[in-house]
Amino acid sequence: MRYLLKHPVTGVADLLADPIETWTTISDAHTAERERRRPQCPYEPNLGWEQQLHDALGVSWPCDETRESSALWHQVISELEAKGIRAGPESFQWWNDGDAGLVRAIWCLTRHLRPRNVVETGVAHGVTSRFILEALKRNGDGYLWSIDLPPLERFWHQQIGAAVGDGYSDRWTYIKGSSRRRLPGLLHDLGQIDLFIHDSLHSERNVRFELDRTWPALGPKGALVVDDIDANWGFRSFTQTVPGRVSLICTAEPLRPDLRRFNKKGLFGIILKASTAQF
Ligand SMILES: C[S@@+](CC[C@H](N)C(=O)[O-])C[C@H]1O[C@@H](n2cnc3c(N)ncnc32)[C@H](O)[C@@H]1O
Repeated sequence: MRYLLKHPVTGVADLLADPIETWTTISDAHTAERERRRPQCPYEPNLGWEQQLHDALGVSWPCDETRESSALWHQVISELEAKGIRAGPESFQWWNDGDAGLVRAIWCLTRHLRPRNVVETGVAHGVTSRFILEALKRNGDGYLWSIDLPPLERFWHQQIGAAVGDGYSDRWTYIKGSSRRRLPGLLHDLGQIDLFIHDSLHSERNVRFELDRTWPALGPKGALVVDDIDANWGFRSFTQTVPGRVSLICTAEPLRPDLRRFNKKGLFGIILKASTAQF
C-alpha cells in the first residue's frame, strides 16, 4: 500500500498487469506482519552441524568440497563488489544475500547428493543460485528452477541474479512470481525433485506452504534447506510433522553482524529425507 501511494502510476500499472499476483503479495505481506507479533521460536543450534551433515550423508568431513566452496565464496563476493554491490545483510532491499555457511551447506549437498532437479525460492542477487549452478556444472548433470517475486521498486530489478552472471543458461530457469502461485505447477510438471531451498518470504505461512508441497515431491535421498528459520515458526512446526528425519539447525555466517537477529547472525535449517546415520 505504501508503494502504491509513493508510486501511483507504476503501482496501478502493476495492479492491472497482474491483479492476482498483486493481491497474493499484499495478503502474504499482511500475514507476515501479523506473525511478527508472535514471540520468537527458541531454536537450539547444532554446533557441529557440518560434521553431522556429512555423517548423515555418509561422507567424511572435512571434505574437499568445503575448500572449493570457500574459494567460490571469495570469487562471488569480489564479483559483486566489482559491480558496485556490497553483499551481506540487507543488501537487496531489506533482504540478505545467502551467507557463507548457508552456501557451503548447499554446495556440499549439491556435490554429494548429485541432484538432478533442484528448486529454490528467492533469487535477489542470486548468491545461492550461483552456488547451486556451479556445483551442478561440476557434477556435469542437474538443472535449477528458481522462483522469485521481485520487489515492486524498479530500482532493484537490474541487480536480480547479479551473482549468477552469464555462464549457466543451459541449466537455469528463472520463474518470475510468488512461490504461492508458481511452486505447485512447477512441482507438478517436474514430478520429483532432489533438492529444495527456501529463501523467499520468511513467514511461517509461506515456509509451511512451500515445505508442505515440496516434501511429497522430494526423492528418497532428497534434502530441504530453509534459510532464516529464526524469523518464524515454520521450520519447527514442519519438522514436527515429519518426526524421525534428520534435521539440523545451523548458525549463519553473515559478512557483517545482522543486528535484527537474536544472535546477530541468524539460523538456517536442513532436513534430509533419509540418512546413513542417525544422531
Ligand atoms: C532473501 S532474498 C534471496 C537471497 C538469495 N537466495 C541470495 O542468496 O542471494 C529473498 C528474495 O525472495 C523474493 N520474494 C519475496 N517474497 C517472495 C515470494 N512470496 N515468492 C518468491 N519470492 C519472493 C524477494 O523479492 C527477494 O528477491
